[in-house]
Amino acid sequence: MSPPAPAGAAAPASSVVFDNIGALVTNDPLLGDGPLGLRQRCALVAVDGRVAWVGGAGQAPEGTGDRLVDVGGRAIVPGFVDSHTHLVFAGDRSAEFAARLAGRPYKAGGILATVTATRAAPEDVLEATVSRLAAEAQSSGTTTLECKSGYGLTTHDEERSLRIAKDHTEDTTFLGAHTVPAEFAGRPDDYVDLVCTDMLDACAPHARWVDVFCEVGAFDADQAREVLRAGARRSLVGRVHANQLGAGPGVRVAVEAGAASADHCTHLAPADVDALSAGPTVATLLPGAEFSTRSPYADGRRLLDAGATVALASDCNPGTSYTTSIPWCIALATREMGMTVDEALRAATLGGARALRRDDVGHLGIGARADLVVLDAPSYLYLAYRPGAPVVAEVWRRGELAWAAEPQRFGPF
Ligand code: NIG
Ligand code: FE
Repeated sequence: MSPPAPAGAAAPASSVVFDNIGALVTNDPLLGDGPLGLRQRCALVAVDGRVAWVGGAGQAPEGTGDRLVDVGGRAIVPGFVDSHTHLVFAGDRSAEFAARLAGRPYKAGGILATVTATRAAPEDVLEATVSRLAAEAQSSGTTTLECKSGYGLTTHDEERSLRIAKDHTEDTTFLGAHTVPAEFAGRPDDYVDLVCTDMLDACAPHARWVDVFCEVGAFDADQAREVLRAGARRSLVGRVHANQLGAGPGVRVAVEAGAASADHCTHLAPADVDALSAGPTVATLLPGAEFSTRSPYADGRRLLDAGATVALASDCNPGTSYTTSIPWCIALATREMGMTVDEALRAATLGGARALRRDDVGHLGIGARADLVVLDAPSYLYLAYRPGAPVVAEVWRRGELAWAAEPQRFGPF
């Protein structure tokens, strides 16, 4: 992590003082109380896009602020790190969602409907969808976002998906092994061969990560290992869609391969929990998927008690979780996954950063990126206390205002 530019550097430092903060979550125990590093009535100075100083309200060092932002007693939290999304897609699966609500089970077959629509979509349409969803994510406080391919499933369409994603984030993930496409039906090993050779050759230059859906009906443990190894040969670090629809080998494959994260973790055996708590692989929980598929929720409490690192992410995709809202995921995690608000907020910030192996985001320690969310509330607890309400007032990225809520016009009902 590089430190902020020293005072007196050639270019004039652009700096912002956030003053009169009612409550500040830093996620840095050196700066405040508990694991959240919580401070009350304080100020924060950002210099050249990085956190440079945190201290008492009204006490920012003189001359530090080109710009003063009076937060008016509201709370500030680190920007959310959404470590799992699938934003490059076309088509509409709202009817499939409605059918699930009426009782039809989710079996991941709908992925192929999205693949057909995505292949047929012009590039500018896909690009517009990613832009729209990335902007939507930002407006609910997301300041770092991972984005996967996985709805192209040809060399051309996967490469195209990653090129589009790469315009929006450096955390792009190759998910050619999302499912076996129709033209390879009954020949999954031939498809895995394509994924591990030509497709990865074309896609690796646009990706940082490699992911595989290890599940009955998608790819088995051997196929998943092969995909992760082929990615590793091209310097891509692994992530695994694991144990979403049932018990299985996904989590153990992820841990053994040294993957950065095992995502979903809905159906875990004791050995899976042990494996996650013993190593660095982050358990990424996706409550939006469980909401939308009417599945039982992953047991966040069990993972935290066992000592695993837990991340919360949106899994935004058209099939199982069509939301970009991390505040909503935090609210669901507190109600359905046995997590406290503190744990859920940490999982959606620092946990996401760990899942993406980044130390520059997910916290507001000195030197961190000045990515932060001003809440329209006196406390971070409102993220769960006011579910579905517009609790995000401002989003700042690298010390610059990226989004602000419109002032409300209101007449009597
Ligand atoms: O993370 N589980 C696999 N992939 C996505 C859903 C894909 C889809 O149904 O379109 C997920 O839930
Ligand atoms: Fe996913």
